[in-house]
Amino acid sequence: LPDPDVAALTGGDVDLLLPRPAHESDKYRRGVVGIAAGSDLYTGAAVLAVGGALRAGAGMVRYAGTHAPVAQVRRHWPEAVVTELDRPSIEGVGRVQAWVLGPGLGTDDRAHELAARVLASTVPVLIDADGLTLVARDRSLLRRGAPVLITPHAGELARLIRAERDDIEAARLEYTRRAAAELGVTVLLKGSTTVVAEDARPVRVNVTGSPWLATGGTGDVLSGVAGSLLAQGLSCYDAASCGAYLHGLAGRLAARGAPLTAADVAGAVPEAIRAVSGAT
Ligand code: APR
Ligand code: MG
Repeated sequence: LPDPDVAALTGGDVDLLLPRPAHESDKYRRGVVGIAAGSDLYTGAAVLAVGGALRAGAGMVRYAGTHAPVAQVRRHWPEAVVTELDRPSIEGVGRVQAWVLGPGLGTDDRAHELAARVLASTVPVLIDADGLTLVARDRSLLRRGAPVLITPHAGELARLIRAERDDIEAARLEYTRRAAAELGVTVLLKGSTTVVAEDARPVRVNVTGSPWLATGGTGDVLSGVAGSLLAQGLSCYDAASCGAYLHGLAGRLAARGAPLTAADVAGAVPEAIRAVSGAT
C-alpha cells in the first residue's frame, strides 16, 4: 500500500510551483541569491554553485569569496556580481533574498566566522558540504529566526545527527524525517534517490536522477539550483523538492547514456525546466 506520508513530486507539480517572470518583471523581483562558497583551496565548488544558481532562474547571483575563487567565478560567469572578501563579513555584498553557504568553503576559523555572519542574516539559508561540517561542530549556528535548508549526503547527515552512515543508508526516509524534527530545519538527503523532509509535511522522494550524477561537483550544482529557487520565493520544502527534481532531470538529459560533468548538469537545467513546462 502507498504510504500517505510519502509523496513523489511529478513534473506537473514542479511546473505549477516554478516561478516564471511576469511581463513587467525585473531582475530584483525575480530574486537575488547570494553564494558564500569556495576557498583558495577549492575554487571549483564556487564556480559550480554559481552556475547552478544562474541556470535555475534567479534574477541576479551575488558571489562572495576569497581571492582565488573570485578570479575563477569572474572568468566563468561574467553574469555574476562578485565581491572579494578581505574579512569574513557579508556587509558589502548587497541585498539577497537567500544564501547558499558551504560548498568548498573550508572549515577553518575564517569559514566559521563567515558562516556565522551569513546565518545571522534574516533570509533563508541553504547549507551544504563544508557548511554542514561547521554546523556539525557548532550546532548553535542553526539557532536563527529565518528558514534553513540543509542538503547533506548520508555521510554528512551521519556527522550532523551523530548516527552511523550505514544505518542512515538502510532507513533513509526515517532518518531524514528524524533529522528534520531534531534540527528544526528542512532536510534534503542526497543519494541515488533524494529524500526531502520537513516537520509536519509528507516526505517527498525524487527519482529523476541518473547514476551518471555520481561524479565530483554535482552536489555543488544542486546547492546553486535549490538556493536559486529559494531566492525566487519558494519555501525550503518546495525549493528542495523542485531543485532535486530539476537537477536529477538535468543529469539525465546531460548524460543520455554517457558520462557527464557537473558543469554539464548546470548547463542542462534550462532544458529540464523546458521539459516540465506545460506538463500540467
Ligand atoms: N543516482 C542518482 N543520483 C546520484 C547518484 C546515483 N547513483 N549518486 C549521486 N547522485 C547525486 C546526488 O543525489 C547529488 O545530487 O549526485 C549529487 C552528488 O552530490 P554530493 O554527494 O554532494 O557530491 P559532490 O558534488 O561530489 O560533492 C562535492 O562536497 O559534500 C562534499 O565530500 C563532498 O568533496 C565533495 C564535495
Ligand atoms: Mg557535496
